[in-house]
Parts: sequence; C-alpha cells; structure tokens
Amino acid sequence: MTASPVSSPAPRIRKAVFPVAGLGTRFLPATKTVPKEMLPIVDRPLIQYAVDEAIAAGCDTLIFVTNRYKHAVADYFDKAYELEHRLEKDGKVELLQRVREVLPDGVRAVFVTQPEARGLGHAVLCAKPVVGDEPFAVLLPDDLIWNRNGPGALAQMADVAQQRACSVLAVQQVPRAQTGSYGIVATDAFAERCGRITGIVEKPDPGVAPSTLAVVGRYILDACIFALLETTRPGKGGEIQLTDAIAALLGEQVVNAYHFHGTRFDCGTHIGLIEATIRFALDHEALSDQARAAMTGALAELGIDDGD
Ligand code: UTP
Repeated sequence: MTASPVSSPAPRIRKAVFPVAGLGTRFLPATKTVPKEMLPIVDRPLIQYAVDEAIAAGCDTLIFVTNRYKHAVADYFDKAYELEHRLEKDGKVELLQRVREVLPDGVRAVFVTQPEARGLGHAVLCAKPVVGDEPFAVLLPDDLIWNRNGPGALAQMADVAQQRACSVLAVQQVPRAQTGSYGIVATDAFAERCGRITGIVEKPDPGVAPSTLAVVGRYILDACIFALLETTRPGKGGEIQLTDAIAALLGEQVVNAYHFHGTRFDCGTHIGLIEATIRFALDHEALSDQARAAMTGALAELGIDDGD
C-alpha cells in the first residue's frame, strides 16, 4: 500500500492520555503504596510536570489510564475543599494558589481503568471511548522533559503535527548498548528536527537495532491507531506494545520522528529521578543556594572529588 499523509488541515490536539497503570516495580518497595507517578521532584509529583506540559501544549481534556491501586492519582486531581478552606482562612494565599493550579479552570480530568497491566498499547486502547475520532497526545509521566527557556516538548510536537498533518513521536539518540530498553526507529534524513519514520522495533538487541534513535514518552497519534491496537497481538514481554501498532500505522500514514529541544530525565529509573531532583533543586529560586551547599557538603563528607 502506498503511504499517504492524513488529510489537511490538521486539528490542534486537545486530548492527552496519561497511561499510569503500570506496576512501577523498579521503585519497590516505595511503589507498593505510592504510585510511581506521585513520586516528587522537589515539591511536585512527576504527574504534575507531564500535566503542565500537556496543558501548555493546548490540551483541555486529560485522560488518566489507571488501575485499582492508583487512587492517589485521582485523589490528587480532585478538589480538596477542606484544605483549600483552611489555607484561605489562614491567609496562605500563595499555597492556596499552588493547590488550585494542580488542575486549572477549564481543564477536565477523566479517569479510565485498565483492568490488567497488559502493556502500554493496551493502556492507550483503554482511552479510546474518551478520545473518539481525533488526534491525541500520549505522555508517559516518568519521562520528564525539561526545556528551560522555551516551549515544552509536547507543544513543539503539536506544532509539527498541525503543520504537517501527521503523527509525531519524540526521539533522542541513546548509546547503542541501551537500544534494548527503547522503541528504536529507522528514518529518512532529518530536516528541521523531523525525519519520516520508515521502521520501528520494540527493544531490539544492540546488534540488530536499525539505529540508535530511541522513542521517548511523548506521542501525537492519529485516532486510527485504536483500530490497529485492537488487532495487535501480544509482542515483546507478552504485552500489547504501542510500538507494534505504530509499525502498522507506518503503512497507512506519514509518522514523523521529532528531535525535541530539551533535556529528558528517565524518572522510571533511580538515577533519572535523582538527576531530575538535583537539576530542579539547583534551578529552584528559593532552594538553589542550599541545594548547592548540601551537595558540596555531601561530596566533602564522603571524600568524593567533584572535579573542581
Ligand atoms: P513502564 O514499563 O516503564 O512502567 O511502562 P511500569 O511497568 O510502571 O514500571 P516498571 O518497569 O515495573 O518499573 C511505561 C508506561 O506505561 C504505563 C506505565 O504506567 C508507564 O507510564 N503502563 C505500562 C500502563 O499504563 N499499563 C501497562 O500495562 C503497562
């Protein structure tokens, strides 16, 4: 079949899906009771960074794919009347505003359940009744992407998706030894940070990976991905893989890889969460000096040469 672009002009994305029904085993025992997405970077949970990025990209409907153990995520986005009343009464205006900004006016949160952790592709499929027939975003909150002086990664991708009327995946280069941890794409030559994807494979061994260009946790997808997910068989790890449905999408539409501006922290790993914490603390208006002093003190106490 000849690949052809989706019809133009493309609508701007309005809906963002947050698959948060994974088991979070890498952070056990903490994630026995605290969902991975609720682990904080300084004073905000991981999920809040992803939500803010989606809202900044223009999304007004946030769809959380959860499971029965993730009540904390729904509770976090619920209105806390008693707390707000107390902060108001005590004149704690700034704190009150921060609590209210968790979910700004005009943005709605919808929760759908993934009954069993059958994989990322299956989690995305669970959002189908709410997404309907329009292009949508998928954000994996444990990939925290920070673009300090410019628009967030999803806003950048939304521009590309709208201008080119295509699906878009965020990508970054990774060391060849790490291809087995990512979806890896083959692409045409890049121009303006975009390259048309010609192939995609889930977690290939370094020896057979088609490139070292890895998909990270931001996607803008055409709604026809749902029909493809419905017929996707369990793949790598026995899970229904989003990557496999995207491989099928390549035969129907143009899908672009987009090399975003910004730094990605893989907060699904211990070191990624630590790196993000250090970076945000050092950049924090009120904490920067103390964070720097604490780090210097820790290095000195442990006798570690920090290279200065
Ligand atoms: P991961 O495999 O990175 O997350 O899935 P995990 O399973 O929660 O964590 P570990 O590997 O056991 O430590 C990537 C994303 O897909 C979601 C996860 O919540 C995460 O955001 N996911 C994964 C689902 O929502 N459902 C699934 O069945 C699998």
